[in-house]
Amino acid sequence: MIEGKPSRTALMTAVQRAHHYQTAPEPKVLRDSLAMALTGLEDSEAVQGYIDTLVQTFASFSDLETATLFMNRVDGAVCMRSRVVEEELPAARERGLKQLVILGAGLDSTAYRCTDLTEGLEVFEVDHPSTQAWKREQLKKANISVPDNLTFVPFDFENQTLAQALEAGGVRADKVTFFSWLGVHMYLTDEAVKSTFSVMGAYPKGSEMVMDYISPSYVTVAGLVENSVEQLQEVVSKMGEPLKSKYYESELEEMLKTAGFSTVNFLSARWLIDNYLGGKKDAFDMPDEATSILTAVI
Ligand SMILES: C[S@@+](CC[C@H](N)C(=O)[O-])C[C@H]1O[C@@H](n2cnc3c(N)ncnc32)[C@H](O)[C@@H]1O
Repeated sequence: MIEGKPSRTALMTAVQRAHHYQTAPEPKVLRDSLAMALTGLEDSEAVQGYIDTLVQTFASFSDLETATLFMNRVDGAVCMRSRVVEEELPAARERGLKQLVILGAGLDSTAYRCTDLTEGLEVFEVDHPSTQAWKREQLKKANISVPDNLTFVPFDFENQTLAQALEAGGVRADKVTFFSWLGVHMYLTDEAVKSTFSVMGAYPKGSEMVMDYISPSYVTVAGLVENSVEQLQEVVSKMGEPLKSKYYESELEEMLKTAGFSTVNFLSARWLIDNYLGGKKDAFDMPDEATSILTAVI
């Protein structure tokens, strides 16, 4: 991240959710009706303009058709990771869930939009102080009220201790907790990722974490473009947020189990399409075997 500035990739993923909401065919992966307001973009044309610029950037590595399809897939994956959180929360509540902790929240709108899912829970948005301050301004500008059950916890993964920040922010380490960790690990060092896993893994039985990840084999499962990780790296580095970690599924599984999680599930595109989208892949046009999202339960 650029010192003193909010995350530009947080803006990018919110624009992607807004774009999906406005243009994806039914059944949509996610209905993030607050995404555009949170970005501060004026209308759907501005959203389309932002996406078109991104597509042009990716087209410089390949061609316009490939870049359009690639961006569509990335949009779909960004929306799907949030959908998985929405789908997993009810079962977690049955296991006694008390807290939802959204780590690296960016412009995530779950706390403001999914109040039926978060009712009765303590919700915490944990993010880099610069991004969080910007989000709070965006919320004000968009007239989105902050629910009573939401607490903001400023935190820098690379320079602070997560357990201490959570405790200071009011997160209870003895309560069943759901961690949403979307679009973050790849911007952190291996050391910060491992220490985050070890903090989460110490939570009580029944706690859960949903994360997406970048794997070196993302290139082959996503098909389409051979060097997709390198392309992403070039784009996000220009935003001041280079990719710093990537893991094979086997590495993630081992790290998570070592940290205290008992089950780790990698969700394939086919499983997600069949279970969430009634088998229809128009809005989530991925190869069946593609996977970039996991759930882990303690
Ligand atoms: C790609 S955005 C994802 C935002 C959101 N979770 C989403 O799904 O749209 C990356 C997020 O990681 C956060 N982040 C990156 N590096 C961080 C650090 N060192 N400490 C705290 N947060 C960090 C950024 O502030 C940003 O909110």
